[in-house]
Amino acid sequence: MIEVQHLTKRYGPFTAVDDVTFRVEAGEILGFLGPNGAGKTTTMRIITGYMPATEGKVIVAGHDVFEAPIEAKKRTGYLPETPPLYPDMTVRDYLTFVARIKGVAGREVRGRVDDVMKRTHVADMASRHCAKLSKGYRQRVGLAQALINNPDVLILDEPTAGLDPKQIIETRQLIKELGGSHTTVLSTHILPEVSQTCHRVVIISKGRVVAVDTPENLTARLRGSETMFLQVAATGGEIEPALAGIPGVTRVAVTPSGDGTLGVEVDSARGHDVRRDLAAAIVGRGWGLLELRPMRMSLEDIFLHLTTDESTVEAQPEPEAVDA
Ligand SMILES: Nc1ncnc2c1ncn2[C@@H]1O[C@H](COP(=O)(O)OP(=O)(O)O)[C@@H](O)[C@H]1O
Ligand SMILES: [Mg+2]
Repeated sequence: MIEVQHLTKRYGPFTAVDDVTFRVEAGEILGFLGPNGAGKTTTMRIITGYMPATEGKVIVAGHDVFEAPIEAKKRTGYLPETPPLYPDMTVRDYLTFVARIKGVAGREVRGRVDDVMKRTHVADMASRHCAKLSKGYRQRVGLAQALINNPDVLILDEPTAGLDPKQIIETRQLIKELGGSHTTVLSTHILPEVSQTCHRVVIISKGRVVAVDTPENLTARLRGSETMFLQVAATGGEIEPALAGIPGVTRVAVTPSGDGTLGVEVDSARGHDVRRDLAAAIVGRGWGLLELRPMRMSLEDIFLHLTTDESTVEAQPEPEAVDA
């Protein structure tokens, strides 16, 4: 339904989107996940025909976005990061206006407007001015305008950004309901969003696709290396070489904990059960082994693992102290 092939976008010397390729099957909800600045909005603007690509090709519902932009746009509903509402128009007038410019036939306009207002749960705000809508309603009216011409494809740029938790749950539910009858791409920089809403995830970082998979497979795949957590009563720096020397161990990271013990993370290659050797190495040196347990990788860890370039990580500032 959507094919993105070798898409590249350069702003002057800066490459914002770098050789991005993925496809979205009919009825699928694809999560486009990446940190801020990863190139999500740029990619979505290109898919929706709002911006030309530097290189590459996008096909939407069988139409090349660059060669047949009108055909492709007719089949696409787009919710940009900021919904394009007209503050002085009422919700009904605005949706009627959008329906007309999107070429909905005159006698169908009223029916379509009523239908999308119902589907996005904004009917109770039909005569409210857009300027007076809450953020949650604004986002839903934005969704309503994207749906007005019943497009095959929905492109939603951070549809839950800035909403409160209740609105987020409602919006996710709404997107799930819409999926199935629409092929959907939704971008987000929030992880739980993709596991709760999406069938498949494309993870993008610095303009490049770093992973494409189901949320479940991503978790399994990255468990290729096992991580153990150990708590050890030992002093000095010898623990790191002592454990790093064990066959199968690929990484040792030692963090002193406040109580004088050491927290140690040990990665090992898949298929190497290093627990016995770890225990023997620690006990054999007279240190105390207080804890040894496998660490499970959450989708959160995977995301960081895939999108964080160790060499460019900056120290995070300490959170501000808050008065109780
Ligand atoms: N019009 C522009 N001119 C120059 N650089 C831009 C422009 N738009 C976006 N960028 C840069 O391209 C990168 C990707 O931006 P964007 O697609 O908005 O990322 P995301 O939506 O994932 O946060 C960012 O580094 C951003 O600063
Ligand atoms: Mg963006």
